[in-house]
Amino acid sequence: MSLAELSMGSIQKFFIHGSIKTTVLRDITIQFIQGNTYALTGVSGTGKSTCIHILAGIETPSSGEVCFNKKNIFSYSPSRRTQFLSRSIGLLFQQPYLISELSVIENIIVPGLVIGKDKRWCIEEALQLLCLFGLDHKMHSKPSSLSGGQQQRVALARALFNKPTFLLADEPTGSLDCKTAKEIVNLLLVCREQWGMGIIVSTHDAYLARAMDMQYEIHDGVLRVV
Ligand SMILES: Nc1ncnc2c1ncn2[C@@H]1O[C@H](COP(=O)(O)OP(=O)(O)OP(=O)(O)O)[C@@H](O)[C@H]1O
Ligand SMILES: [Mg+2]
Repeated sequence: MSLAELSMGSIQKFFIHGSIKTTVLRDITIQFIQGNTYALTGVSGTGKSTCIHILAGIETPSSGEVCFNKKNIFSYSPSRRTQFLSRSIGLLFQQPYLISELSVIENIIVPGLVIGKDKRWCIEEALQLLCLFGLDHKMHSKPSSLSGGQQQRVALARALFNKPTFLLADEPTGSLDCKTAKEIVNLLLVCREQWGMGIIVSTHDAYLARAMDMQYEIHDGVLRVV
């Protein structure tokens, strides 16, 4: 089976507030291949999160294309795009954004239920993930009773639940101490080994950036290889 590709072609993104136009991304062209890992770095405000959000289909580019296996994801109908994103792209934000009313295991199975998987099957799958992530003893806990690192691991398990082709992670270690951040980096690499997904992270964390196969820096709206 050939490897999937996720690409950005001549992406431009600007924001307009009143009469002020701020161009964040001027010309981003890059191809990401399944099974490889990539770090997007750059000083604060250079557009790393914007890039991740455009790749995840939750922010629209001002011009240019985001293609999955050469098909522009913004040409899909909204419902097809949602289905595609739910199945093929896992998204992890800097903050875990867990649903406080749901238990850990209920949070993790949400993406499976969204694409119509059977609830009992989802719970079996989630249990395996929780064991891999060392959190099986917390399955019935509410997110508020977990540490920041544990919550981020639950959010990672949720992002990986549908075994996406690509995992996009916006500063996955941004709010964690050094030791907990290393645990998350190791988990990302274990998941790549196990499921062969591509991983794209935005980060200020030099340890995480160095752990990825390729590092790019966004500078003045364009990408350069580090
Ligand atoms: N919705 C928006 N409206 C206006 N400007 C925005 C919007 N979203 C982002 N920006 C601007 O785009 C620029 C890039 O923001 P972005 O969040 O992508 O940067 P970043 O590289 O992720 O920064 P950080 O490292 O601090 O997370 C910033 O100048 C920000 O103010
Ligand atoms: Mg950011």
